[in-house]
Amino acid sequence: MIEVKQLHPLFAGEVTGVDLRNSVDPGTIREIVAASDKYAVLIFPGQAIDDEQQMAFSRLLGPLETTVRALRKDHKPRLDLHVSDISNLDEKNRVMEREDRRRMNGLANRLWHTDSSFKKTPAKYSLLSARVIPPEGGETEFADLRAAYDALPEKKKAELEGLIAEHSIVYSRSTIGFADYSAEERAGLQTVPQLIVRRHPGSGRKTLYLASHAHEIRGMPTPEARVLLRDLIEHATQRQFVHTHRWRVGDLVIWDDRCTMHRAREYDLSHPRDMHRTTVSDVASTLEQAGAEGRAQVA
Ligand code: OGA
Ligand code: MN
Repeated sequence: MIEVKQLHPLFAGEVTGVDLRNSVDPGTIREIVAASDKYAVLIFPGQAIDDEQQMAFSRLLGPLETTVRALRKDHKPRLDLHVSDISNLDEKNRVMEREDRRRMNGLANRLWHTDSSFKKTPAKYSLLSARVIPPEGGETEFADLRAAYDALPEKKKAELEGLIAEHSIVYSRSTIGFADYSAEERAGLQTVPQLIVRRHPGSGRKTLYLASHAHEIRGMPTPEARVLLRDLIEHATQRQFVHTHRWRVGDLVIWDDRCTMHRAREYDLSHPRDMHRTTVSDVASTLEQAGAEGRAQVA
C-alpha cells in the first residue's frame, strides 16, 4: 500500500511506499491513479531513476508522447525520443549559451501552462524527474484548476460552459518574443481547439482547462477572448490555488495535465538544472471526450 501525505489544503500529495525503479504491480498502479485523481499532483521523493526506468514506469500509466522535435535538426538531442529535455544543458552537457535557441524556447515554461494542450490529443500525465538541481530557485508551481473552477461565481460557470479555446505553441512563444520558427515548423504546429471547461474523468469534478497556449475563443472577438483568458488564468493562479514544489535530487513528480497548470520559476542560469520529463497521452481531444460523455449521458 502506498502512503499519501497531503501537502496543500486543496491538492498535492507526497507518496511513499513504492520503489519506481522496479516494475510496479497493477494494484499499486491503481492506487497511484486513485491518488492522482484525488490530489492531481503527486511527489515521489527519493526515486533515483534513469530514463529507461522512467519510461517503463510511465508506460504503465498509458502511451507516451514523443517529444516535439520542432526545433531545428541542427543539434543532436541528448535524450530518447520519449523523454523531454527540461534542462539548460547542450548535447555535451554544458550549460547553454545565453542566446541558445533551445534555452530561449525553454524559457516559455515560466508561463502558466498545461502540457501539450496545443496537440489535438493533449497530455494526461507529465512525469518530471530531478537529476541535477540548482542551489536555489528553479521551483515548479502548480495550480489546482478544479478548485479554481469551483470558486467561480455560478453566472461565470454558465458563461464558460461549452466555450472552445484555440491553443497554439507558436502563440505562447510569441508572447515572450520567441518567433524563431521556419515556415515548415509553423505548418506543423497548427492551432488546436480545446474546451475551457471539462469534466475530469477520474474524479467526476469539473475543471478549467487553461494554458499560455490559448489565444482565441470561437465566436468571440479576439480582444474579448484574450482578456477573458487572462482573467481566468489570473483567477486560477491566486495563491490559495497554488502549491510550490521545491525540488530535491531524486524527486519524481507526476501531475495531471487535465486539471492543473504549472510553471517553472527563475534560477541562476549559470548553474545546471537537469530534469527529464515523460508525458502520457490523453485518450482524445477535450471536444471528443465531451462528445463521448454527452452521448453516454443520453444513452
Ligand atoms: C515541464 C515544465 C517546469 C519546470 O516539464 O513540462 O513545464 O519547473 N517544467 O521545469
Ligand atoms: Mn510544462
